[in-house]
Amino acid sequence: MNDGATVRVELGSRAYDVVVGPGLLARGGELLAPLLRRPEVVVVTDRNLERQGHLARLQQALAAGGIAQQSVVLPPGEATKSMAQLDELLDRILALGIERSTAIVALGGGVIGDLAGFAAAILLRGLDLVQIPTTLLAQVDSAIGGKTGINSRHGKNLIGAFHQPRLVLADAEVLATLPPRELRAGYAEVVKYGLIDRPDFFAWLEAEGHRVLAAEPAALARAVVESCRAKAAVVAADEREGGARALLNLGHTFAHALERVTGYGDELLHGEAVACGLVLAFALSVRLGLCPQTDLERVRRHIAAAGLPASRRAIRAEGFATDALLEAFAHDKKVEGGQPRFVLVRGIGRAFTGATVEPAALRDLLDAPDP
Ligand SMILES: NC(=O)c1ccc[n+]([C@@H]2O[C@H](COP(=O)([O-])OP(=O)(O)OC[C@H]3O[C@@H](n4cnc5c(N)ncnc54)[C@H](O)[C@@H]3O)[C@@H](O)[C@H]2O)c1
Ligand SMILES: [Zn+2]
Repeated sequence: MNDGATVRVELGSRAYDVVVGPGLLARGGELLAPLLRRPEVVVVTDRNLERQGHLARLQQALAAGGIAQQSVVLPPGEATKSMAQLDELLDRILALGIERSTAIVALGGGVIGDLAGFAAAILLRGLDLVQIPTTLLAQVDSAIGGKTGINSRHGKNLIGAFHQPRLVLADAEVLATLPPRELRAGYAEVVKYGLIDRPDFFAWLEAEGHRVLAAEPAALARAVVESCRAKAAVVAADEREGGARALLNLGHTFAHALERVTGYGDELLHGEAVACGLVLAFALSVRLGLCPQTDLERVRRHIAAAGLPASRRAIRAEGFATDALLEAFAHDKKVEGGQPRFVLVRGIGRAFTGATVEPAALRDLLDAPDP
């Protein structure tokens, strides 16, 4: 367990493994070879991964496994998930002379995974895809489940496709070079799984989460494996988000509004927005008489102890105007019939979907100084 594990995403003929553990990049050739239709891949990555030596390590491993590879290195950052960068990426990959049996390898965080995954979905009507996530967020969330896509000026992730990978390699050692702020942001998604339906996991995080945040290998591996299991189970039950998969949006309606108001930039990372959103989802549930106050307190305390924003004022000292947040909800991809949808909780580990929230209750919550 300390060394990781293999988690199967059960999707019938498209089932695949998420392999978690140290040293996977160095074994890339051996791990990929049996899956490839032809020993030829295009690796898509960003400049930070190249600079940290991760691309070179993977290239070496692929060569050792007899796999021919070419690579495309893109600028890092959310702005790369754009139509212009997609266009450029498609052009560069096609210029390499790929065939239907060439596989795409996405080496990077959620930005690279989403963009390269979408390119794989549409190039030659679909190429095989391998995800090698290099941020905690990507290892526990974005690399699993097959959602790929880019942003539009109308909003985030509005253009995309479902395209499941053939394999996910979550190498614990790659996280060693991740900036601490990025590690913390990914940790918010780890906490989310505990809050949705794994109360024992949340209790473990309360006790041992500081070890995860200190990137202690055994603790980090356990957190990643548990999270991958949680995500894999939800995806297997509901691949295209007809029901259970919506639970993964716990905290996210609030998070997306906060991200929209702060401009998707460096002021607030996605995981930081999720951290605050989780607290707000619990606060809303308390106000609706669904959830005990003590559970809200536990969540707030844990988020704050992790160095994540547990309130809107922890993001911006002056807080946020209620009207700006309410306006932002309207742009959420998950809006149905003009109403934002919220995942609510009856307590820690007891999230549920489908409740309607009166606009007045929402306004009251947002008008209150702190959740
Ligand atoms: N597809 C999904 O289901 C899904 C789920 C959640 C989030 N997302 C998407 O994921 C994106 C966010 O992903 P992210 O948080 O991984 O951000 P990211 O991909 O921008 O990576 C964060 C930063 O860390 C750098 N980096 C990555 N790995 C590194 C490493 N090992 N060492 C040093 N630096 C490293 C990157 O270059 C970047 O600067 C968003 O666009 C979001 O919409 C998708
Ligand atoms: Zn998220």
